[in-house]
Amino acid sequence: MCGIVGYNGPRNPKDVILDGLRRLEYRGYDSAGVAILHNGEFKRVRASGKLSELSKKLEGEAFGGRLGIGHTRWATHGVPSERNAHPHKVEGVSLVHNGIIENYQEIKQELRQLGAEFTSDTDSELVAHLIARQVRATGDLFKAVQQVIPRLKGAYSILAVWEKQPDTLVAFKNGPPLILGIGDDEIIVASDVQAIVSYTKKVIYLDDFEIAHVRGSDYKLFSATGEPLRKPVHVLNWNADAIEKAGFRHFMLKEIYEQPRAVAQAIAPHIDLERMRVRLSGVGFGVPYEKLEGLDAEQDAAKTAQQLSGIDRIFIVACGTSYYAGQVGKYLLEILARVPVETDIASEFRYREPVIPPHSLVIVISQSGETADTLAALRLAKQAGAMTMSICNVKRSSIDREAQGHLYMNSGVEIGVASTKAFVSTLALLNLFALFVARSRGQLTAEQEKHHLEALLAVPAQMETVLSYDKWFGEAAEQLKGYRGILYMARGANYPIAMEGALKLKELAYMHAEGYAAGEMKHGPLALIDERMLIMMVAPTDHHYEKTLSNLEEAKARGGHIISLGTGDNQELKRLSQYYLSLPKAEWTVSPILAVIPLQLLAYHVADNLGHDVDQPRNLAKSVTVE
Ligand code: G6P
Repeated sequence: MCGIVGYNGPRNPKDVILDGLRRLEYRGYDSAGVAILHNGEFKRVRASGKLSELSKKLEGEAFGGRLGIGHTRWATHGVPSERNAHPHKVEGVSLVHNGIIENYQEIKQELRQLGAEFTSDTDSELVAHLIARQVRATGDLFKAVQQVIPRLKGAYSILAVWEKQPDTLVAFKNGPPLILGIGDDEIIVASDVQAIVSYTKKVIYLDDFEIAHVRGSDYKLFSATGEPLRKPVHVLNWNADAIEKAGFRHFMLKEIYEQPRAVAQAIAPHIDLERMRVRLSGVGFGVPYEKLEGLDAEQDAAKTAQQLSGIDRIFIVACGTSYYAGQVGKYLLEILARVPVETDIASEFRYREPVIPPHSLVIVISQSGETADTLAALRLAKQAGAMTMSICNVKRSSIDREAQGHLYMNSGVEIGVASTKAFVSTLALLNLFALFVARSRGQLTAEQEKHHLEALLAVPAQMETVLSYDKWFGEAAEQLKGYRGILYMARGANYPIAMEGALKLKELAYMHAEGYAAGEMKHGPLALIDERMLIMMVAPTDHHYEKTLSNLEEAKARGGHIISLGTGDNQELKRLSQYYLSLPKAEWTVSPILAVIPLQLLAYHVADNLGHDVDQPRNLAKSVTVE
């Protein structure tokens, strides 16, 4: 979703803003623009399309001032075009906005009656009008913003500048994130730390209904009603190298290769290697957020075990790839811990009036920690009195901060819009969590726990071997892209992996794909099968294997072309398939972590071969901060 960068300092604002916007490109966008101070006014340059278009327009443009704002827009109201691109400018007030103003029709009508004229189709321009009217009345940008905030319904993060106060930038939010980077003699405000980290490691996270009043390199923070606030300055512990491609053609391919490390990093804090036991560390149910870092791991693990032992039902709620990770979690938790688990897509959960009985735990999964529907689902679960826990990759994201318990994917920054390493980290965490809950409920012997932990600890090395299929898919892509579509099928804990594989192909290659439970094949998808339909069958040697094999026979008999994924050197699968790909022998609990890798590589290479922008697929965004 939209990216925002604002700069107030001695460097060339154009360079800092463009660099920041480039680092936010991964969020997805369709147009971009800047407004930078020059000779007493904010000179605005906007372009439809990629940032390179904006850069071209900015070549040779000189700006004399220290202050500027920039934006990458992901269209919601009004088509992607230069006219709808931000910043919006009304009588000397320039503004960038991420989010949706829900009462924009009402505001528009009111402004129209007052004689306002609009130069775009966006909801954002209306906020510029409202602020422009208030600066006229108050002569002060900060006061104007304060008066406008109560008028806005919906989700927003906004930066505003006004040419009559050329050293001032005002930032405020309700919903999508805004972060202040505090440099020595400069302030950078952005949607995400990626845009800030090359300049400073010191950041402040704005909360909802907070306003940052930046004057030169000074800043003051206020609540929406004007009370001064003191907030902690956090020091980031990673650097800009983490967000470079490191020689890979795309971020996505780099992130696919980073998966073994991501899994190792996700599980490392939670395993007591000496006793070969899961020791969930730092979940901190009910501990105030700012005190989480000082937790005593042993004590907290004991408390968490006790709290979880009283749980009767678990809900797992998420969107997209995170939702499929949650579905694997259902198999793990129900089979290992014998707790009933419901999984839900967040946008359904929040509106379906779910019945959440007492003693329920609601787990929300979100790589970004900012997905609007998942955040709303979390709030609903809290209101219903459930215990809540988040699994996030981005620490201090909205979902992480609002949940009562916390687990971290620890995958490192994920830039590719299509999630890969965060997904496998989540699978590994859910695996540990299921073992932990199983033990707390007396469902697992020490011997069984050790066995499953050994399987999990072995998985990063096994993943390395599966990555060698990169080359194979690179060569096969030319042929694979010629199919009418791909039907992904599997059973058990790999069934969600089939759906994740299909999602990846849709989002990257824009090809039709379906993920199905193999046992459902006869109830519809069989009719799709002919020699132009490719079948990807995930068939590791587990207790579903014989049944999956029968499904494969049926597909073959109808002329389907088959790629099968099996365990080791499986002659039966080789006989039935056009292509056979071998996975290392693994326990069913970790098999999904291995099986997803070839499916990611398939989607990546077919999309690349088709010439698509793999890191930023059309129409999609990494962080979906509006519903
Ligand atoms: C978007 C992304 C997906 C992601 C989903 C959920 O649709 O394109 O890759 O799985 O959002 O994101 P989250 O940050 O909540 O995991």
